Amino acid sequence: MKKARAPLQQYARNHEHRRLTELFAADRQRVKTFSTQVGPLYFDFSKQPIDAEALTLFGELAQAAQVELHRRELFEGEIVNASEFRPALHTALRAARPPEQSALGDAVATRIDAERKACYAFAEKVRSGRVKSASGKPYKYLIHIGIGGSYLGPKFLLHALKPAVDRSLEVHLIANIDGHALAPVLRQCKPEETLVIVVSKTFTTKETLANTRTVLKWLRRHGVTNPMQQLVGITAHPDNAVEIGVPEDQIFTFAEWVGGRFSVWSSVSLVAMIALTPKCFDRFLAGARQMDEHFCQAALPANAPLLAGLLDFYFSTVLGAETRAVFPYDSRLHDLVSYLQQLEMESNGKRADAKGKPVTGASCPVVWGGVGTDAQHAVFQLLHQGTHDVPVEFLAIRKPDHNLKEHHRTLLANCFAQSAALMAGNGADFPGNKPSTTILLDKLTPESLGALLAFYEHRTFVASLLWNLNAFDQPGVQLGKTIAKQIDRLLNGQPSDLQLDASTRHLLSLILESNE
Ligand code: F6P
Repeated sequence: MKKARAPLQQYARNHEHRRLTELFAADRQRVKTFSTQVGPLYFDFSKQPIDAEALTLFGELAQAAQVELHRRELFEGEIVNASEFRPALHTALRAARPPEQSALGDAVATRIDAERKACYAFAEKVRSGRVKSASGKPYKYLIHIGIGGSYLGPKFLLHALKPAVDRSLEVHLIANIDGHALAPVLRQCKPEETLVIVVSKTFTTKETLANTRTVLKWLRRHGVTNPMQQLVGITAHPDNAVEIGVPEDQIFTFAEWVGGRFSVWSSVSLVAMIALTPKCFDRFLAGARQMDEHFCQAALPANAPLLAGLLDFYFSTVLGAETRAVFPYDSRLHDLVSYLQQLEMESNGKRADAKGKPVTGASCPVVWGGVGTDAQHAVFQLLHQGTHDVPVEFLAIRKPDHNLKEHHRTLLANCFAQSAALMAGNGADFPGNKPSTTILLDKLTPESLGALLAFYEHRTFVASLLWNLNAFDQPGVQLGKTIAKQIDRLLNGQPSDLQLDASTRHLLSLILESNE
C-alpha cells in the first residue's frame, strides 16, 4: 500500500499551488466527468482537487488495496470483521432476492426475512390498535430507548420523515443516561398508553438498561400492574433480554453480524416501522439497494462511494486535512452529522491496522458540521479564511415539501454560493481554493434517505480498506465503558480496585461531598 501511496503524494506535491479554478478552465467537460447521478442522488465532485491523472492514481490505489475483492467479500458474507471473527452483512438486510435465491444461502436470507416479517406484523398491529397495553388500551405513546447505533439511525429517519409519522402516535427517543432527557418525556406520556421499545444489540449497555429500569418503575408507580407487557426488546442477544424479564414473544432479534452503526436496516428500526409504516421502510431499503448496486457495478469516476472514500484517504493521509465538514441545507437532515460521526469515526477512528500494526499516517478525520444556513453565521468564517484546510460536503434538496418557493430558492442560493465562494476566494486575505462536494437529493423521500446512508456506509468501508483498518469493530470504546463501571461503583460507596489519577479523584470527592 505504501508503494501505491507514493505517486499520489508526488501528485499532491506537483500540484500544491494549482487552483481549482484552473482545473475548470482547462477542461470544459469537468462537471460532466466528475458528476454522477445515482437514483435520486446527484453527486458533484468537480470542485475537488483532482484530474484525470489523479483518477488513474486513485484507480491504482484502489487496486493495491484490493477494493474489488473486499467489496465482494463484504457482500458475500465473508469474515470481514477479523477481530470479532464475523461477516458484516448489513447489505443483505436490504437485498431484494427472496431467501431461496440468495447467494448467501438459505440460512441468512431466511433469517432476515423472518425477522423483518415479525417486525412488520407487530408494527401493523400497533398501528391498528390490535396490540394493547396492560390496561387494554391501544398505544398512543412510543418510547424508544437505545444508544449509539441503537438510536442514531431510527432518530435520523424519524426526524427526516417527520411529516409522514402517524399523527395518532407520539414518538420519543431516549439515549442519554442524563435524567434531563428522560424526565420530560415521562411527563408527556400516559403510562397506560405507552409502549416501551428497548433496543440494544448486546442488552448490556448501562445507559439503556438504566433508562429501561426507570421507565418500568414509572409504569409501576402509575398503576400498570404488569409493566413488562408494555415493553418490547430488540437485540442480537435475546437471552440477555429474557434475563431482565422481557417476555420471549416480545423480543425481536437481529443477527450478530449486523454492526450497531450499520443496523438502521434491521429490527433496530422497529419504532420507525411503526410510526412510518412498513411500506415506507421498504422504500427506505429499496433506496439503499439502489446504492448497493451502483457501488458494486460502477467504475471510477462514476462510482460515488468509491470516489468519496478515495478522496477521504487523499485528504486525510496525503494532504493532512484533520477534519471534514458536512452541511445539509435542510433542517430535516439535522441528525445526519451525528449519524455520520458514529458511522465514520467509530469505524475508522483507529491507529492500529487490521493486523494490529500502527497505521502509517493519519486515518479517519474528525467529522463535524451543522445545518445551512444557520452554520454560515457561526462556523463558515473559519472555513473561508481560517488556517485549517477543511474539505466540505454540501447537501441540498431540489424539491422541498412546502410551498414557500422563495425560501427554498434562497436556501439553495446560499448553499451554492458557499461552495462557489470557498473555491473562488477573493484576494490575498481570502485565497479560496477550498474544495467541496455537493450532493443533491431530488426530494427527501425514504428512497433518497436509504441511498444516502448506504452511500456513506460504502464510502466508510472504502476508506477503511485504503487505511487497512477493520471498519467493523470498536475496541477503543470498551476502555471508557470499563472505567465508567468502576467509577459508578465508587460513587455508590462500593469498593473498586481502580487506580485513579489525582484530578479524577478530586472530581469524585466533590460529587461525593455534595451528595452528603
Ligand atoms: O458506543 C459503543 C457501542 O458499542 C456502539 O458501537 C453501539 O452502537 C452502542 O455502543 C450501543 O450498543 P448496544 O446496541 O449493544 O446497546
